Amino acid sequence: MRIVILESAQAVSHRAADIMCELLNDKPNAVLGLATGGTPLATYDELVVRYNQQEVSFAQATSFNLDEYVDMSPEHAQSYHTFMRENLFRHIDIDASNCHLPDGASDNHWRACEHYEQLIDQAGGIDLQLLGIGTDGHIAFNEPGSSLASRTRLKALTEQTRRDNARFFDSLEDVPRLAITMGIGTILEAHDIVLLATGAGKAGAVRAFVEGPVTAQVPASALQMHPNVTVLLDEDAASWLVRTDYYRQVEAVQRSLET
Ligand code: GLP
Repeated sequence: MRIVILESAQAVSHRAADIMCELLNDKPNAVLGLATGGTPLATYDELVVRYNQQEVSFAQATSFNLDEYVDMSPEHAQSYHTFMRENLFRHIDIDASNCHLPDGASDNHWRACEHYEQLIDQAGGIDLQLLGIGTDGHIAFNEPGSSLASRTRLKALTEQTRRDNARFFDSLEDVPRLAITMGIGTILEAHDIVLLATGAGKAGAVRAFVEGPVTAQVPASALQMHPNVTVLLDEDAASWLVRTDYYRQVEAVQRSLET
């Protein structure tokens, strides 16, 4: 894993936008894996800025989001469909028919999960998957204990995740208990993965998945098994890491090789 420690959350969002724009400029019909949550918001804002400055186009791109709440209509204010529409899709030139999220409102959840996997396959797989991380180490909605080989499926949210996400809802009671999520096995098939973590609240999860063992108890630790993962951290999220001097040294060498 390439561990990149940057001076601020803003620098994290700019670096993530750099990586995504570089891909889209090399491969305009790239397949993007997108994430929700507070962390990627600044990256989406930065992508909109770059789109407005005509530095990037999404016209030929396809996207697949990681997850969606179950039994929530796409129009619901807190659905991830709405989140993506309001925070990214409606501000850029991506074709709405190429933007995919799991169908949490389906009356056949099993079929919806299988269909989502088929759609990703038909698109040729995901070129670049953007990820955040939950405070308990989850990625997408793969909660601790998720099989490291899991595929898109229904998952029950932990109380910690429901409490963390309650800030987007009127009350904790309103936070759904179930979601459809890409599995860890699905995520690991992406060609490249970029995980973003900012703020001191993520320091424990970051320490566990970067420097701890690979374990289903810390779902993000499965990324240690993937050959092309970049972890973009601000100083606060990196503050519990032990080997920061080495990561900074490696990154300096890596940057000098690239320029
Ligand atoms: C939710 C999402 C995850 C996201 C996590 C952290 O659980 N399903 O994809 O990584 O929240 O969100 P935040 O960035 O708001 O801390």
